[in-house]
Amino acid sequence: MTHILAIDQGTTSSRAILFDADMKIAATSQQEFTQHFPDSGWVEHEVEDLWRTVAETCRDVMDKTGLTASDIAGIGITNQRETTVVWDRDTGQAVHRAIVWQDRRTADFCREMKHHEPMVMARTGLLMDPYFSGTKLRWILENVDGARARARAGKLLFGTVDSYLIWKLTGGVRHVTDATNAARTMLYNIHEGRWDAEICKLLDVPMDMLPDVLDCAADFGTTDLLGGKTPILGVAGDQQAATVGQACFGKGMLKSTYGTGCFALLNTGDRPVTSTHRLLGTIAYQLDGKPTYALEGSIFIAGAVVQWLRDGLGIIGQASDTQPLADKADPQQRLYLVPAFTGLGAPHWDPDARGAIFGLTRGSGPAEFARAALESVGYQTRDLLEAMRADVPDLDETILRVDGGMSASDWSMQFLSDILGAPVDRPKVLETTALGAAWLAGMRAGVYPDQEGFARTWALERQFEPKMDEDERATRYAGWQDAVARTLTR
Ligand code: G3P
Repeated sequence: MTHILAIDQGTTSSRAILFDADMKIAATSQQEFTQHFPDSGWVEHEVEDLWRTVAETCRDVMDKTGLTASDIAGIGITNQRETTVVWDRDTGQAVHRAIVWQDRRTADFCREMKHHEPMVMARTGLLMDPYFSGTKLRWILENVDGARARARAGKLLFGTVDSYLIWKLTGGVRHVTDATNAARTMLYNIHEGRWDAEICKLLDVPMDMLPDVLDCAADFGTTDLLGGKTPILGVAGDQQAATVGQACFGKGMLKSTYGTGCFALLNTGDRPVTSTHRLLGTIAYQLDGKPTYALEGSIFIAGAVVQWLRDGLGIIGQASDTQPLADKADPQQRLYLVPAFTGLGAPHWDPDARGAIFGLTRGSGPAEFARAALESVGYQTRDLLEAMRADVPDLDETILRVDGGMSASDWSMQFLSDILGAPVDRPKVLETTALGAAWLAGMRAGVYPDQEGFARTWALERQFEPKMDEDERATRYAGWQDAVARTLTR
């Protein structure tokens, strides 16, 4: 029993990553699945696709390495957060497609409920926004024929993706989740560590349908997916798993992951900080019954802006073409691209905003668009850091640890450091999300080091230092702020 299997069920693909006894990757398998956009601002996943791609990629990594269930000490699961699944307790059938975190269909309802935001924020750390599971769950109960009555009769179960996968993996034996995923539902009191009866009542959610909440390293049940009995021992939402994988265990440590979106988490220690600058309070991880909290800034479009250059504008053939194209941009032109394709997340929270570009001239072309797209990711990260600095005044010395696909781009990371005016550290291992999930499971299984030992394995690949002069940084950032102000709808 030397290996750990990490499952990373993400927004656009499912991956299985096999880690060996030294926490090195032995094999990976990945499958994309169809995104459904049934209406403007709606995003759904076929629940069966999530399960099938997870099961197939897990079997695939086992086949690739020739390992069997007896070699696997445990499974760690990490997942796209907030995405909402409701299924029948007896048949296992989902009553609706999964409503994805990006989905904005409950924006009107959230507006109606805005006056409850102070209470919701004080208890859950979250804002009244369609991003979170609570209003998505309510939408399913309201709109699927007979769902509310079946839920009241105890026939339906709710879960985020981790919870649904565990239920499938254990053959319907366990209906559980972990504290980090629970913290993204808007139904969970992060101070008291329990589902909040008053918020459930407000959203008319029967509490019987909610999963039991466990630590991130715990006994989540066993699966026979790999041909024997394999324990599931670690679970964390993907951004929290990346925080763990980056070993951001100390108060004041900060990571930012560049995937579809960008999510920056600042470890705030054993007390939640209630943001006064439109950030989220959340649980970074929970071990031995003790939650460690984080302030989170969530940006909905980061790497997705590069996909848009490729699929929407058609000015690049593949993501790696972006940087060479951006290098050709005319330095005299200053274009600002505000990628509010699905509204804006932190710190603006404007679900109705849509993308805009400012500063176009007759000479603006693909190269200038490419540069503006890459720069938008740096500017948005600065917005998050400004809000974090305002919420936590002693943050000045913090170094940002980065990971995720876009962190591999030297150009983007140099611009990030320049515009932040702060160092950016890129670790040797960029697969921090899967590593975090694997470590949680491996530590629980007793095959991986404890927290301190794991933190010592974190290794720097490259530090980016700011090179831009102060005036230029200030002028550019002021231009960005002006562009955002003109994009907001309120
Ligand atoms: O909150 C949404 C986040 O968990 C999604 O992450 O990497 O699947 O885009 P990702």
